[in-house]
Amino acid sequence: SKTVARGADGVVRVGGTDVLRLAEEFGTPAYVLDEADFRARCQAWRDAFGPDADVFYAGKAFLSRAVVRWLHEEGLNLDVCSGVELATALAAGMPADRIAFHGNNKSAVEIEEAVRAGVGRIVLDSFQEIVRVAHIADGLGTRQRVQIRVTVGVEAHTHEFIATAHEDQKFGIPLAGGQAAEAVRRALKLDGLDLIGIHSHIGSQIFDTSGFEVAAHRVVGLLKDIRDEHGVELPEIDLGGGLGIAYTPADDPREPHEIATALREIVTRECERAGLRVPRLSVEPGRAVVGPTAFTLYEVGTIKPLDGLRTYVSVDGGMSDNIRTALYDAEYSVALVSRASDAEPMLVRVVGKHCESGDIVVRDAFLPADLAPGDLIAVPATGAYCRSMASNYNHALRPPVVAVADGAGRVIVRRETEDDLMRLDVG
Ligand code: LLP
Repeated sequence: SKTVARGADGVVRVGGTDVLRLAEEFGTPAYVLDEADFRARCQAWRDAFGPDADVFYAGKAFLSRAVVRWLHEEGLNLDVCSGVELATALAAGMPADRIAFHGNNKSAVEIEEAVRAGVGRIVLDSFQEIVRVAHIADGLGTRQRVQIRVTVGVEAHTHEFIATAHEDQKFGIPLAGGQAAEAVRRALKLDGLDLIGIHSHIGSQIFDTSGFEVAAHRVVGLLKDIRDEHGVELPEIDLGGGLGIAYTPADDPREPHEIATALREIVTRECERAGLRVPRLSVEPGRAVVGPTAFTLYEVGTIKPLDGLRTYVSVDGGMSDNIRTALYDAEYSVALVSRASDAEPMLVRVVGKHCESGDIVVRDAFLPADLAPGDLIAVPATGAYCRSMASNYNHALRPPVVAVADGAGRVIVRRETEDDLMRLDVG
């Protein structure tokens, strides 16, 4: 993150404190999150999109009550994907009308909770859900504001598991074959629904604005068809999240203002061409807000040199706190942060303590050859999709999230304890 720096003694400092103090006070492994950096990124997104657009933070990247309060204070909205994410948002004081509810298989209970709470929008993902939400809203004597999520047929250049706009996948309703137009037709007929817009999310960890531009072009095309068929101009479009971040120096991410400018231009141009009022735009960044704001602090345990191959450095966590390397072949960097070293760099693989060989945190990286057990190393850019995808594999206790600000760390999600796990085991 922006406030990370190395002192003269080689010890890395963040948010006015240093990693030795953090490790001593909170233990390792730990996710260390820089609150000022988080807030600055929220502001950058707000400023880039301005008052005529809405920025919904994607809570799946990382959600906690502190994060919800920061988002609220910084003027962001929130996208949630489950009843418990919704409950977390409401418990931390996010106004319901600033919450969007997503998911391809929301339960009837979740839908009812969302409608009762008065969420700003539910994003409809299937024909069945159109009917389900309408029925529930009707039963509660209300009209629910909804968007319809469409797949625009864009091939996003990212890992297959996180690309979402090509047609053969579980999310959304395809534009192709008039399916999205049919969904709109049905939604417009139902009293329980107030159709406010169209939603598209093309994928995640994307570096190029062209995929978003194609998506915007196609979504505006649908708005035009809707106007022509129904005489209705839908007032909103949401172009989802997906902006990539730098995990390693080779990554070259776009800034929020670049994506904002590109989207505004294309939406405005396409709407003018089609004779449409320019709809209110929204986006849903998750990774690009929280990803760079945190690093994972580990203690080095075993070091195993394999002659002629590489050296395996084992840390006190692993795939239970960062599944991304095993799951997506994600690349990370790593640094020694607890002292200075002039030693030669050695090629290492940073691995966890779990019982499988795929338990890799950083596939290939260089660390000083004098690395020793007890050293602290840090893996940057673990704010998104690490704590939120953490597991208890091998009964690992999920690490805490420590927010640093003004020279001190504060636990915002505490470390799991043996008791926490034992309590679940009731047999
Ligand atoms: N909006 C929708 C509808 C989404 O499905 C997602 C992410 C986002 C917004 C936020 O995307 P972001 O800006 O964070 O890329 N676990 C994977 C990423 C899965 C993303 C799922 N949806 C990973 O660790 O890379």
